[in-house]
Amino acid sequence: MRLLLISLLLALSTTARADDTLYRAWGEKPGIRAVMDDFVARLPQHERIGRRFKMTDPQHLASQLTEQLCELAGGPCKYEGPDMASAHEGMELQKADFNALVEVLQAAMQARGIAFADQNRMLAKLAPLHREMLGR
Ligand code: HEM
Repeated sequence: MRLLLISLLLALSTTARADDTLYRAWGEKPGIRAVMDDFVARLPQHERIGRRFKMTDPQHLASQLTEQLCELAGGPCKYEGPDMASAHEGMELQKADFNALVEVLQAAMQARGIAFADQNRMLAKLAPLHREMLGR
């Protein structure tokens, strides 16, 4: 019985890890990179949060975000950058900053032809991360 339960849990976790449908829907790594390039190019132009990105190296940020989203989407990547709390230390990010960031991301996803349902699936993966960064 116990062995059966362990096998069942193992099978379930393997299935969960193998779910790369979102990764594929985004056009795998090149597709994610294209959205991220578009996204980081738009960020400095945003009225509210743009100033935060004036000194940012767009290549570096796009590359880090690509690894992170690839991993979140179930792709074969591993984000190895700083954790979210450290990466945003001292920025004192508020809810409104996240809303603004999402607006910019939505514009980039739309421009790159990501289907609405796949946009929302990615946003749902990103949403829990914001708690680590709020007010830091
Ligand atoms: C779910 C939401 C977010 C995610 C997943 C995220 C992810 C990241 C990642 C992966 C980096 C690169 C870390 C590194 O390699 O050093 C980064 C840097 C940064 N993030 Fe975020 N971030 C989020 C929200 C925000 C918000 C709301 C703002 C401000 C409006 C923001 C502003 C920045 C800035 C200014 C940098 C530094 C860029 C630089 O190197 O100059 N982030 N973020």
